[in-house]
Amino acid sequence: MPGASTGNIESVLSEDRRFDPNRSFTQRAQLKQELLDELCRRGESDPVSLWADLAREMLTWHKPFTATLDRSRAPHFAWFSDGELNASEACLGPWIRNEPDRPAIVYEGEDGDSRTLSYRELGDAVERLGATLRGQGVASGDRVVIYMPMCPEAIVAMHACARIGAVHSVVFGGFSARSLYDRVVDASAEVVITADAGRRGGKFVRLKAAVDRALEYGEHPVRRVIVFRHSGEEIAWHDRRDRWAHELTEAAAADCPAEYVNTEHPLFLLYTSGSTGKPKGIQHSTAGYLLHASLTCRWVFDLREDDVFWCTADVGWITGHSYVAYGPLASGATVVIYEGAPTWPHGGRFWEICERYGVTVFYTAPTAIRALMKLGDELPGKYDLSSLRLLGTVGEPINPEAWMWYHRVIGNGDCPIVDTWWQTETGGIMISPVPGVTSTKPGSCTRPLPGVHAAIVDENGEEITEPDRGGYLVIRHPWPSMLRDIWGDSERYRETYFGKFGDDCYITGDSARRDADGYFWIMGRLDDVVNVSGHRLGTMEVESALVAHPSVAEAAVVSRPHEIKGESIFAFVVLKSVPAEEGVPPSPGSEGVPFSKPDAVQRELRAWVDEQLGPIARPDDLRIVDALPKTRSGKIMRRLLRSIARGEEINQDVSTLENADLVRQLMQP
Ligand code: WTA
Repeated sequence: MPGASTGNIESVLSEDRRFDPNRSFTQRAQLKQELLDELCRRGESDPVSLWADLAREMLTWHKPFTATLDRSRAPHFAWFSDGELNASEACLGPWIRNEPDRPAIVYEGEDGDSRTLSYRELGDAVERLGATLRGQGVASGDRVVIYMPMCPEAIVAMHACARIGAVHSVVFGGFSARSLYDRVVDASAEVVITADAGRRGGKFVRLKAAVDRALEYGEHPVRRVIVFRHSGEEIAWHDRRDRWAHELTEAAAADCPAEYVNTEHPLFLLYTSGSTGKPKGIQHSTAGYLLHASLTCRWVFDLREDDVFWCTADVGWITGHSYVAYGPLASGATVVIYEGAPTWPHGGRFWEICERYGVTVFYTAPTAIRALMKLGDELPGKYDLSSLRLLGTVGEPINPEAWMWYHRVIGNGDCPIVDTWWQTETGGIMISPVPGVTSTKPGSCTRPLPGVHAAIVDENGEEITEPDRGGYLVIRHPWPSMLRDIWGDSERYRETYFGKFGDDCYITGDSARRDADGYFWIMGRLDDVVNVSGHRLGTMEVESALVAHPSVAEAAVVSRPHEIKGESIFAFVVLKSVPAEEGVPPSPGSEGVPFSKPDAVQRELRAWVDEQLGPIARPDDLRIVDALPKTRSGKIMRRLLRSIARGEEINQDVSTLENADLVRQLMQP
């Protein structure tokens, strides 16, 4: 990890506003000051026994555990490792038995169609699909890739896997065929669950067609593709491989006994970008993960059965796992899911849905808030948002102006806001206000939750106690929902997360500072990952995709701040010369000199990245240049490129550059 200058990161943000918890919220809250203080005290002095007590209280065990934290394979930690349970059963079972008719999922499609599934109906669908998967030869521990639109069947598919002990690996429906292929192969999944097509922004997202293309990229282990009919789009069919989900489930048994697995059994893999081109399959456990997802729904969202909870994340991301598919259902709440874009067919779509279903707790990303804020205050004003009692954000730092708008316009100046910091790897929320207790400051995720030993350390792993000095954000004690491994690459797991400060010190990869009140302020990623609209993308992946284009010689990708997306991708590209008959003639006599029709090249390269990685990875800026600035050792001078992309003053030493004119050229749009 670079970040050698972490200690020197300057904080430019100064924020003095402070909001105390709303009194009526505090009165009803499940977690009040006294209990929180007690939990924090225990979390500090004896986290292991605290987590064990919480695990006994929160989860439905098939076989209770006696072991707590097992450090014998550190930094691979195991929690409660002699217990047995089933994650889906633990989530849904109690509600199916006690309140079968309570709505579990309320779904709204982009074109306005709406469906509600009660806990019983959800449970029935899970059992049928579970029985189907078993009938297709899927056994406990087998990996199943889920590539679905945001619809109830995506959640059914996740729970069906969990029910039979299969390990799901959801691939975000916005990822391309190529990304899907890589993930299917890495996980060696034999079964893919998909749908004909999804909908977004008035267009079809042709998922089945992408699966077909993915499985043509090369060798793969997939023997069965199970297809849900969703949009009704026509699709190509491979008789030997493809099966309609509705045909299989109609023929399958109605019941599917749960497979009880060991607490440490992998519940799922979820791939995230790393700083090298290859995505990492983050592996989560069953019990530890579920404990944290459920517990934080209580602590942070104060969720209870009568809540209508809307987390706008897609199930393709960790937020959609912990706070759509698992945590809120374990809490017995009603979960709203919406397939479609926040501004389609009009900018009031989110607020319309909040009004229609009486959403009480709303959780979204700063990128969405900024996009909606841009449309003005009038739109939300048209809807009755009075059912909202709590607002949340996740995914990237929220700038104070967006926080204030969220507070004032959506929350009517009255809803607490929880700015929740966590990661795919942490499984659930780690640093966040507790809404009935913590005073908030716009832009700060405030304090760690009980049992979470978050700290800021310097280069040598020494804690930085001085207020407002930036450093590495680390977690200095294992916690139950931490990732267990990187699928198939334990070496990379150790190096990435524990390499620097020892086995007990998990490195988040973020930099942060703490203010004089002990509040945490996240400053950004330390490695080369761009956070586009709350989605982490490795710049290396985008570079690899660009370089894979036949006319590209070299590419360097950096980020620049973007008003709506948080960060956007800025690519510097050096071209090879391409023969004239291929469409875009190069300037005569030189390699890598700009084409005479640069617009066409830029369009083509953007479309190419789209095809390779998906639209979220498409560079917003793409500058064709003669060469990339490199150090003597051949490393691309990323910091220089970043300054250029951001339009900042150049104060790096560029004397090592062979072509002194290069900087001027790099700066020309
Ligand atoms: C960033 C999403 C500031 C951070 C749950 C982290 C945040 C990365 C916040 C994880 C927040 C997430 N404030 N930054 N409240 N929440 N981040 O794995 O850089 O998709 O490391 O998990 O998002 O992204 P991931």
